[in-house]
Amino acid sequence: MYWQILLAVLWMLASPPAGLAQTNEACLACHQVEGTKARFPDGGEIDVRVDPKKFAASVHAPLTCITCHTDLADYPHRPIKAKTARSYHVLAQQICAACHADQAKAFEASIHGQGLRKGLADVPTCTSCHTAHAVVRPKAAAFRNNTPETCGNCHSDRAVMGRYGLRPVYQAYVEEFHGVTTRLYRLATPLSPSPSAVCYDCHTAHAVRRHSDPESPVAPANVLATCRTCHKTAGRFFATAWNEHQAPSMRHSPLVYLVQVFYMILIPGVVGLLALLTVLDLRFWAVIRRRGRKS
Ligand code: HEC
Ligand code: HEC
Ligand code: HEC
Ligand code: HEC
Ligand code: HEC
Ligand code: HEC
Ligand code: HEC
Repeated sequence: MYWQILLAVLWMLASPPAGLAQTNEACLACHQVEGTKARFPDGGEIDVRVDPKKFAASVHAPLTCITCHTDLADYPHRPIKAKTARSYHVLAQQICAACHADQAKAFEASIHGQGLRKGLADVPTCTSCHTAHAVVRPKAAAFRNNTPETCGNCHSDRAVMGRYGLRPVYQAYVEEFHGVTTRLYRLATPLSPSPSAVCYDCHTAHAVRRHSDPESPVAPANVLATCRTCHKTAGRFFATAWNEHQAPSMRHSPLVYLVQVFYMILIPGVVGLLALLTVLDLRFWAVIRRRGRKS
């Protein structure tokens, strides 16, 4: 790693100083080298490699590295301000916010943004959902169809969610009608956007609120209107069809649960009975043949 960096530095020094470090190639000469890490005072570190192919395919491909990293044109770089890897990611969000003020404002007011200000370790920053250097258009089907997994990175983790008194809802989502359809789209037709509800259709992407917050689109007073954005003709009681992110049980959706149990008994029962009948039938014919031979 070190000799490769040394070579890159020599190459930079040998070239005309003005403007050289301004090109993406100059940055990438070091930032593709395996094992290059930024280290923090607490012993934490982050990998500082950037994949040029992914960057070239991203929405930001026309930008230069230093459009975003305005204070890093020189090497050695100025010292890193952040004390931990986590605070590095949190601070770096301001880079995105500088150009996407609307999203940043909505996000700041959200339950996730509030968590960041409180210093919570498990809430997302812009790059948790978008990445830093492989940002794609969120309207692209592949991005949409994958968002349950994006949110599910955290919302499927029982231990992490437990710290905030929340249930890991991802598991129940992938088993309900909307989740099953979206998963099929993701696996079978990743280039068509799922018409079914993904997390942000009900919760929004940036302005996520607690479900108990009266302004949340899933609060009791608003949830029917949220369903009606797609189920245009939904009647007054339609939202009660919602499974509340709970796998069916005797406590939640007992009817659905009982039907599931019924089929769980019925299907193996029927198959078992058929197998038994076949065995009995074969034995019956074996006995008949033996008797025929004897007489
Ligand atoms: C000579 C090699 C070299 C060059 C050229 C280089 N970097 Fe770095 N960069 C590093 C190393 C090594 C680190 C790890 C932290 C450190 O040692 O400063 C780093 C860290 C970083 C970081 C993360 C730390 C921070 O302060 O945010 C960013 C972002 C970064 N570089 C951007 C750039 C950009 C943009 C360019 C081009 C203008 C560039 N680098 C050119 C070697 C280089
Ligand atoms: C659209 C803005 C933008 C552009 C363009 C951009 N970066 Fe970054 N970069 C960021 C942000 C934001 C972060 C902080 C990400 C995080 O939270 O880890 C970052 C982080 C980094 C890091 C630290 C490691 C990491 O992934 O967190 C390095 C190194 C880096 N960038 C290098 C580059 C290089 C080299 C280029 C040009 C090829 C480039 N960046 C182009 C926004 C950008
Ligand atoms: C220097 C300004 C700048 C910075 C900083 C920046 N972006 Fe962008 N971003 C743009 C531009 C320009 C576009 C392309 C706009 C277009 O063509 O719709 C864009 C497009 C996007 C899109 C696609 C928008 C759409 O409607 O399809 C997303 C998502 C996005 N950026 C996220 C981010 C994230 C996340 C960060 C931080 C890592 C970031 N941006 C940092 C300028 C910036
Ligand atoms: C929890 C995940 C998540 C976080 C955190 C997040 N985004 Fe997004 N972002 C999304 C999703 C999902 C969409 C698609 C929304 C849609 O199509 O309605 C999106 C869409 C966008 C778009 C496209 C325009 C739009 O509003 O639909 C931009 C630009 C963007 N995000 C920037 C940002 C920036 C900047 C941050 C940080 C301040 C950020 N995002 C934080 C998930 C996230
Ligand atoms: C990096 C991890 C992470 C990601 C990714 C993430 N979340 Fe969260 N989310 C959290 C944490 C942690 C909390 C709890 C914050 C608190 O209680 O202060 C939370 C809280 C919430 C809440 C509030 C729950 C309630 O009713 O109290 C909702 C709703 C939510 N997230 C939806 C989403 C959606 C939708 C996405 C994807 C677009 C997403 N989250 C992505 C970590 C994450
Ligand atoms: C983004 C659009 C969208 C939103 C928002 C949405 N749904 Fe759906 N929903 C669909 C689509 C498309 C289907 C049919 C395909 C499938 O089963 O996923 C469906 C299927 C259903 C079904 C299965 C029976 C049927 O009609 O096919 C129920 C029940 C349902 N949704 C309830 C709800 C409830 C309750 C809400 C609000 C909390 C809601 N949906 C919000 C798009 C949506
Ligand atoms: C069809 C609409 C709909 C979709 C899709 C949806 N949610 Fe929800 N979500 C709700 C409603 C309504 C509530 C509030 C009542 C409840 O707990 O069911 C809720 C509650 C929550 C809660 C609070 C759970 C708790 O423990 O109190 C979280 C977190 C959450 N959703 C995250 C997500 C994530 C992550 C996804 C995608 C994997 C998602 N939601 C998809 C409608 C939806």
